[in-house]
Amino acid sequence: MKTFDLPGADPSKNKTEDDDLKFSKADFGDDFCWGTATAAFQIEGAVKEDGRGASVWDTFSYKNGKIKNNDKADVACDFYHKYEEDLKLVVQLGFTEFRFSISWSRLLPNGIGSVNQRGIEFYNRLIDKCIELNITPWITLYHWDLPQDLENRGGWKNREIVNWFKEYAHLCATHFGDRVKNWIILNEPMAVAGLGYTTGLHAPGKKGLWNFLPVVHHLALCQSEGGRVIRENVSDAYIGTAISCSFVEPYSTKPKDVAAAKRADAVMNRLFLEPILGLGYPVDAFSYLSNIKKYMLEGDAERLKFDFDFIGVQNYFSVVIRHSYRVPVLWLKEVPAKLRNVPITAMGWEVSPAGMYKILKQFSEYKGIRDIVITESGAAFTDHYVDGEVADPEREAFFKQYLAAILKAKREGVNIRGYLAWALTDNFEWAEGYSARFGLVHVDFETQKRTVKNSGKWFSEFLMDKNV
Ligand code: GAL
Repeated sequence: MKTFDLPGADPSKNKTEDDDLKFSKADFGDDFCWGTATAAFQIEGAVKEDGRGASVWDTFSYKNGKIKNNDKADVACDFYHKYEEDLKLVVQLGFTEFRFSISWSRLLPNGIGSVNQRGIEFYNRLIDKCIELNITPWITLYHWDLPQDLENRGGWKNREIVNWFKEYAHLCATHFGDRVKNWIILNEPMAVAGLGYTTGLHAPGKKGLWNFLPVVHHLALCQSEGGRVIRENVSDAYIGTAISCSFVEPYSTKPKDVAAAKRADAVMNRLFLEPILGLGYPVDAFSYLSNIKKYMLEGDAERLKFDFDFIGVQNYFSVVIRHSYRVPVLWLKEVPAKLRNVPITAMGWEVSPAGMYKILKQFSEYKGIRDIVITESGAAFTDHYVDGEVADPEREAFFKQYLAAILKAKREGVNIRGYLAWALTDNFEWAEGYSARFGLVHVDFETQKRTVKNSGKWFSEFLMDKNV
């Protein structure tokens, strides 16, 4: 594992010098894309409308105690009805790109088979409105909301999902590919394998280590096969896949801590990236992964590769890892940010611009990566709505520090092509429900009123190319 210093900054404090924080939009270059990101289940609502089928997140959120305050996403941000208003906010904030995901069960209520025309029509309206407003649409094919009927057949544990996913990807490519050129195949597959099928903290809530390897392999196959479906069916497509990543620091220089950090790095940063590049699974750092062979068929090593145009980097925090005898197989634990005297967000995640810089440098070491797009970046803080205004200085500072770190990496040659802020509006934050707010725009979930936060106003000034 390599370490990289963030020049002009004290990485131990994660503080950048004031000079580093003075930059303008122009410093990123004219061809750099600026946008915001969202995901279907987190914003759309209208879960039973116009023929949509249930997804695993519908089922999961109806189980008592799975989501904070037992929040439901039946309405969420009501984006299904308010998409025009929200796209106007994208424009108002100065962004030109809009990332959204397709709800698989809105198009195919049973996951495969009969197509729900009203679902296709909704995404057609959304795409057409983007184009009318001069917004470039970016589609994510899979952002965690698997159709419940497919989960009933084993979901990501069943290798058949590769065929199910190809059918779905083909449907999206042939209906939307005439107008949409930017495609993200999977969103953070590690979260699906880890939280969805191993710890059970996310839908479908399956627990057990035995699920982990087959689910990883099937996700990795869909990642590359999905890329191929889009390549074959969409002319001039710009295709990527979004990977969660966190710079990993060992707690000490003791060999056990260093080896534990390498295992964490293999799982958190390398697992879904290296197979695409033809490097296979990172068994060198975590030998347990060699058991994945059991789930591999002849030709799979080849099938896992795909020449993506870009890798979507999603980095929120960095982690410190130490050896632990308490966690079988992984033999490691995280030293929580709150015990390390570092700044944290409302999620308890370390505010770590230095970590963003370092992970970008780490990814830039791979020869096979063409472009990097930051497909998500943002933070939850406790926002206060007072007299029609949301002052969120911490979020504003977060964006400035992270953008400074990204610019530094870019200036040093890392090929970063765009930045999509997470998120346009506050939304349903998975197991946290509505308690964690990530938006540049505040949503009153009682009234559905939108209010641009000060961080959103800051972004619009910045995107008008003022020095900030
Ligand atoms: C990502 C996820 C998003 C959003 C974000 C903030 O992992 O892709 O859907 O929830 O985290 O936690």
